[in-house]
Amino acid sequence: MPYFIGLDVGTTGAKAVLINEKGTLCGQTTEEYPMSTPKPLWCEQDPEEWWNASVKAFRQILKSKNIQSDQVKGIGLTGQMHGLVLLDENGNVLRPCIMWNDQRTAKQCEEITQRIGNKTLLELIANPVLPGFTLPKLLWVRKQEPGIYEKIKHILLPKDYVRYKLTGVYATDVSDASGMAMLDVANRKWSDRILREFEIPGVWLPRLFESVEITGNITEDATKQSGLSEGTPVAAGGGDQAAGAVGCGVVSPGIVSITIGTSGVVFAHSDMMAVEPEGKLHSFCHAVPDSWHLMGVTLAAGGSLRWYRDTFGNGEKYDALLDKAQRVNPGADGVFFLPYLAGERTPYPDPNAQGAFFGLTLRHDRNHFIRAVLEGVAYSLRDCLELMKAIDIPIRQIRLSGGGAKSLLWRQIISDVINQEVVTLNSTEGAPYGAALLASVGTGYYSTVEEICEAAIEIGDRNEPDKANIGIYDNAYHLYRQLYPALKEPFVKNTTLLTGGV
Ligand code: XUL
Repeated sequence: MPYFIGLDVGTTGAKAVLINEKGTLCGQTTEEYPMSTPKPLWCEQDPEEWWNASVKAFRQILKSKNIQSDQVKGIGLTGQMHGLVLLDENGNVLRPCIMWNDQRTAKQCEEITQRIGNKTLLELIANPVLPGFTLPKLLWVRKQEPGIYEKIKHILLPKDYVRYKLTGVYATDVSDASGMAMLDVANRKWSDRILREFEIPGVWLPRLFESVEITGNITEDATKQSGLSEGTPVAAGGGDQAAGAVGCGVVSPGIVSITIGTSGVVFAHSDMMAVEPEGKLHSFCHAVPDSWHLMGVTLAAGGSLRWYRDTFGNGEKYDALLDKAQRVNPGADGVFFLPYLAGERTPYPDPNAQGAFFGLTLRHDRNHFIRAVLEGVAYSLRDCLELMKAIDIPIRQIRLSGGGAKSLLWRQIISDVINQEVVTLNSTEGAPYGAALLASVGTGYYSTVEEICEAAIEIGDRNEPDKANIGIYDNAYHLYRQLYPALKEPFVKNTTLLTGGV
C-alpha cells in the first residue's frame, strides 16, 4: 500500500506522521529538541538540531510501523513559521535561527513601518510587520552582526532548511513565505518594492512554490541519514497554521477552524485576497492553490489554563480543574480573565498587554477563577471571529481542534460565547497530518486538496449553543470588550516600571 509522511519542524520537536493512501493516520512519532533564550526576549534554535531530530523521526516512523522506504510515495513538510535561517555560499548555517517567538526586533519593526507606512505595507504585503516576522530579524542581523550579514547567500524558513538537507533545493511555499514580510501576498511572489527599499538581494530568497507542488527529491546523502528512499518526492508543504488547517479540512469558504493549543488560532479560508482594514488579522496565502486565509491569534489560550494549573492548581490535573469550573454559573458570577499573559496579537497587537482578573468580590472562590480563564479565552476567540465577520468572511461551520478541544465544557463555553455550533474532527494531528495530505495531492494520488480532505476528514462531536446562556455571555462579552481599552495605558506604565524603561 502507498504511504505518505508529513514532517512538522515544530517549536519543541520534529513530529513525523504516516498516512495511507486513504488519508488514514497510521502512526506518529516525535523527537524533541531544545530552545535557547540567551538574552531576555530572545528565542533561538540550532537548525542542525532540527535536522538530527527529523532524520531520527523518519527512521523511527518507518521502523515502528514496519514500512519499507519505497512504500513512502511522498513527503510533505510543515513547521514553525517566521524563523530566520541564514546560510553561507556552501549552505552552512551562519548563526542559530531567530525564532517566531523572539521579540528582539521592536525597533526594526518601527523602522520598517515608518519607512513604508502602515497603509502601503498592507498594500504590499497584506500585513503589518510584527516582531515575530522574518524581515525585521534580517535587519537586526544587518545592524548587530554585520560580520554574519556579509556572508549571507541564502535565507530559509525552518522547514525549508530540512527540505534543503533532504533535497539540496532552496525552496519554500507561499503560505510560509507570507509570514516573512517580504511576500506580495496578493500576487504570490516576492515583493520587489520591499526588497528594493531594504536592499535585500532577491537571489538570497528561496524559490516559491504552491504547497502541493513537488520541490525536489530525496538525495543519496539524505537517504543514508534518514532511511528514506532516494528520489522520493518532497512537496512544498506549508506553514504550520496553513498545513494544520488542511489537516482540519479548512479548504473551502465558510469552514473556519479554532485551534486551542498553547495559543488559540482562528483560521478562515478565503477564495479571494481579503485584508482587515487595520491589518488586525493576518492575511496569508493558503496551502490550497490560489486561495488565501485570514488568521487571528490569541497568544495564551491553552497556555492560560496551563499557567493557571501550574500556578494555582495545587497539583490537580486538568480534568479536576475543569470539573470545578463546571460547578460555576456561566459568566463566572462576574469574574473576568484577560488572557494576555504573553502580550497579544489579535485583536490587540500589543506586547505590553498583560493578564488580569477582574470583578472579584468576597463571594468568589478558586472555581470562579478557573471558569473565568476558560471564558476569557473564549471571548478572545470571539474577538477574532468578529473581525472576520466585519469583513464578510462567511462562517458556516466551526471546527475545534488542539488540546483544549478535548474538554466538553470548554467546547460548550465557546459555542455559547460565539452563539454558533462547534464540531470536532476525527483527525487530531493538525499540521504534520495536513502536510502528509498535501504530499498525497502533490504526487498525484489525489487531484485536489479538497478531494483528499473530503475523503479523509470526518466530523466527530457537535456542540450547539445553550439558549439559556447566549444572552448571559453576550452581555459579558461586551463588558470584556471594555476592559483592554481601560487597561491599555496602565499596561504600558506597568511594563515601564518593570523594565526601567529599557
Ligand atoms: C503563526 C505563528 C505560529 C508559529 C509557531 O503566525 O507564529 O503558528 O508558526 O507555531
